[in-house]
Amino acid sequence: MPVLIRSETTGPSRVSLEALHVTAETIMRIAALSNNELSILLVNDPQMQELNLKFRGKDQPTNVLAFPMDDITPDSPDPGILGDIVISVDTAGREAAGRSITCHQRIQRLLIHGLVHLMGYDHERSEEDAFLMEREENKIILELNRQQRRQPMIQLAINVDHVATIRQARGGNEPDPVTAAGICELAGASGIVVHLREDRRHIQDRDVHLLRQLVKTKLNLEMGASEEIIRIALAVKPEMITLVPEKRKELTTEGGLDVAGQIKKLSGVVARMEEAGIPVSMFIDPDSRQIAAAVKAGAAFVEIHTGRYSDATSEEEINREFDLIASAAEEAYEAGLKVNAGHGLNYLNTKRIAGLATIEELSIGHAIMARAIFVGLEQAVREMRSLLGP
Ligand code: PXP
Repeated sequence: MPVLIRSETTGPSRVSLEALHVTAETIMRIAALSNNELSILLVNDPQMQELNLKFRGKDQPTNVLAFPMDDITPDSPDPGILGDIVISVDTAGREAAGRSITCHQRIQRLLIHGLVHLMGYDHERSEEDAFLMEREENKIILELNRQQRRQPMIQLAINVDHVATIRQARGGNEPDPVTAAGICELAGASGIVVHLREDRRHIQDRDVHLLRQLVKTKLNLEMGASEEIIRIALAVKPEMITLVPEKRKELTTEGGLDVAGQIKKLSGVVARMEEAGIPVSMFIDPDSRQIAAAVKAGAAFVEIHTGRYSDATSEEEINREFDLIASAAEEAYEAGLKVNAGHGLNYLNTKRIAGLATIEELSIGHAIMARAIFVGLEQAVREMRSLLGP
């Protein structure tokens, strides 16, 4: 029996012991420790405070404590027995609320932290040890996310706006975004995205009509919620629309849609689209308030804005933005929304986002078109597709 779980908690149960057992065994497998034995104890804050005082001299509760086997029986430790991990469900629950994730998800992270301690890592020893420990934890978390993926395969929707940008630079008819869409589909894209802007700076009405006829996978029309464009969408009937904020002077979409600030208007757009059988996605920042508003407005999808993650330069900032996206995607998924993500993703930063289990589809344009100039569009699509896993 490699994993033994015991709960000494009182009050309503916040976690399913069966689900935790499955997760713990998966984590042990990922860490190549399947043949070892691990004991997990769930407690409330008062018991945790006692343990924290007794073993670490700290008179306060903490989230997780790990006791390696040789601490428990110093004389003849059995090498197969790793030790005990004690988790306070009260502290985990509070931390989960602060991160907008479920208590189970938080306990899962604490379990990994405890296990990595039992593997001999210790972030309190030195800065370098802290780095090594975090790296090991992240490796396990990424693989766990991949294995727990609720979506069997992440999809790649390709935005062909910038093919039209080049065409419009000379006002002629080359290169044609419609041809580009066909090549993207043949190379493995599972959807085509175009943004019909009010100023028609790249995609034209003719493109949208032709794409409607030619796209075999899924046409996603990105649009501002203006009456003119709403009417076009209702006439064209794409497989879905994505509502984005639109400003005339911006170079590209600059931020997420403020759904919370215009629920009434957006609910009206959703109702009109629903009547025409067109699901609506809302492009939002990774923000709980906007997720709740998207649910309220009746959206079927949200697309989480990955722009700040993509623009981040320091490792700390990248990790912070990544965590925000991961939590928002979990929260939206748990709220019953389908979750897409996109903006600024490229060949270096996409894999990590693609590892998130709750994301169904990534929407990528500029990076693929930029690479296509050098390696050809088909190759550029295939390379991005292969980054997303099988
Ligand atoms: N998603 C949305 C809502 C967008 O507005 C854009 C840019 O048109 C993208 C995804 C794709 O962004 P990028 O071109 O940076 O890959």
